[in-house]
Amino acid sequence: MIKKYTFGTPYETDAVIIPISTEDTALPYFKTDCDDKLRFELTLQKDDAVYGLGESTRGINKRGYTYNTFCADDPNHTETTNALYGAHNFIIVEQKDRIFGAFFDCPSTVTYDIGFTVCHKLIISSENTNMNVYIVDGKDAYEITREFRKAIGRSYIPPMWAFGYTQSRWSYATADSVRDVVKGYRSKNIPLDAVYMDIDYMERYKDFTVDAKAFGNLEEFAREMKADGVRLVPIIDAGVKIEEGYDVYEEGVSKGYFCTDKEGKPFEACVWPGMTHFPDFLNPDARLWFGEKYKTLTDMGIEGFWNDMNEPAIFFSQNSVDRAFEKVKAYAKESSLTLDGFNDLKFYLSSRQNCEEDYSGFYHNTPQGRFCHKDVHNLYGYNMTRSASESLEKTAPEKRFLLFSRASYIGMHRYSGIWTGDNHSWWSHILAELKVMPGLNMCGFLYSGADIGGFNFDCSRDLLLRWLALGIFTPLMRNHAACGTRNQECYQFENTEDFRHIIELRYRLIPYLYSEYMKAALNGDMYFKPLAFEYPEDQVAKHTEDQLLIGNEVMIAPVYTQNAMGRYVYLPEDMTAVRMDGGVITTEEMTKGHHFVEIAENQVVFYIRKGKAIPLCKPAKNTDELEKENLELIGSGSEYLLYTDDGISKDYDNPENFRLLRK
Ligand code: GLC
Repeated sequence: MIKKYTFGTPYETDAVIIPISTEDTALPYFKTDCDDKLRFELTLQKDDAVYGLGESTRGINKRGYTYNTFCADDPNHTETTNALYGAHNFIIVEQKDRIFGAFFDCPSTVTYDIGFTVCHKLIISSENTNMNVYIVDGKDAYEITREFRKAIGRSYIPPMWAFGYTQSRWSYATADSVRDVVKGYRSKNIPLDAVYMDIDYMERYKDFTVDAKAFGNLEEFAREMKADGVRLVPIIDAGVKIEEGYDVYEEGVSKGYFCTDKEGKPFEACVWPGMTHFPDFLNPDARLWFGEKYKTLTDMGIEGFWNDMNEPAIFFSQNSVDRAFEKVKAYAKESSLTLDGFNDLKFYLSSRQNCEEDYSGFYHNTPQGRFCHKDVHNLYGYNMTRSASESLEKTAPEKRFLLFSRASYIGMHRYSGIWTGDNHSWWSHILAELKVMPGLNMCGFLYSGADIGGFNFDCSRDLLLRWLALGIFTPLMRNHAACGTRNQECYQFENTEDFRHIIELRYRLIPYLYSEYMKAALNGDMYFKPLAFEYPEDQVAKHTEDQLLIGNEVMIAPVYTQNAMGRYVYLPEDMTAVRMDGGVITTEEMTKGHHFVEIAENQVVFYIRKGKAIPLCKPAKNTDELEKENLELIGSGSEYLLYTDDGISKDYDNPENFRLLRK
């Protein structure tokens, strides 16, 4: 059951899509205050847990820290980072005698102080006093999640090929460099489904253009790649380059489709292309207009996109630079700089990027009125991606496209997936990826994954192998790295067969992973489940945050430390351990309890729950060539309910898509 409580006059975010009328009673569970801030307070007992918040740092249980939901272009994903790229305001509070969910539907920053300032207090606050709050009741975390997901609509469903292994780098600068990547994988017989094209495929980073010198005729190139079983997936950035003669820029200006500054002139700021304007995605006409531009690329045979820099990221505006210069000049007048002065200057200059003044300096023309960007900030990437999705739907109503975004808000989960942005080649970021996934699923974001191997810094061979061993279970499986870092395509390292075996295992698991993904999408369930949700009575399981369930049958416990010979694993019930070693799969029955499991770098071990079975197919060079008949069932159970379809059209609810497999 979901109930709505309204404070002030909220901006309608379209996150919730079923009609729910506002209750005329007070918000339950929380003590509410509303003066210059909205504030919701709840007393927590020692063992209470708070789950959710989608894309955020730290644990699956969020207790003990403070988080802001503010779409932030911040590549420093450390323990003390309060906000990441997505703003996902849904939590589940589990207390001794009750459990409930709460969605704070607010397009600007909401702060969640979850026992940080005062250990036993959950304090949710927002400067924006206009907000809808939804309270979701249910018997357990799964039921609450299902109720919530029913209200926010079905999660995005990608094409089946988007479950293949994919390679990216900022940037493959020419068609030949992409060809080399494909050759690299094919020559080592490592499966591959797609290569991403980062900003260098464009002409001077202008959206919907192709650098013909570097990429020739993209339509022919896409055809050539597809003939080799590889799709090309270009990036689209939010900012539109200011350049005379560039049609997107000129049309946007003449139609008034860009965000405006105080005086009503298109707002200007610097991103990768240099000075840009930002399409006003909160204006339905602008959304339609920008979305239609994706057709330029789908007409060339492109079947997938990633939307980036859509928080939106702002490196600087002229205004903020002018203010910085004034500050520098003022200090320069002094005969010498004190340490305080130096620190002040350093902080000021380094905080110009994505600064508050810039987010307060432009406006949106929405059907609900003119709004300052900072008050609707979290809806920007969401509506960019909605613009793409709605247009792709029109272009080819029967076809699924791959689409994922960096910034997001709940509601966007209906249109696309997300990737978790610019992580690092750090061991701790393997664990961070594992921990973020269940929260994303609660908020509807099922199609997700991190940059495997890490985006920033150099990746080591063992890091990549261990990361892949987690990545084979994430719906989006993409290896991506920043320019200037060590090449981290699998074939760049020694003994490539180790990489091949792990990626082949991914392909062998696709019938299962896809099937579980589809069940989760169709029923509003979770694909990644914390052990706490499945075994709420088991105190050890409840506190195990480095293992996850994948769908209904599988548990994973990946290695995330360097030079480890294996790891401790907790089995909350008897399970079948499945070990992949040198491409060969063996199974072993294990009993409930604690175990030390040896896992070499080139092995993968995962677990099938008691009495359950999962299907395996044969490996293939890409998803198009996967043989989906004659599946082998492994595990102690005797049957598995398989969901299978053509992977590209949208007949999702056809009961014939379900098939019971028996041993
Ligand atoms: C941003 C993206 C990253 C991309 C880069 C260049 O940092 O998060 O994935 O490679 O921009 O486009």
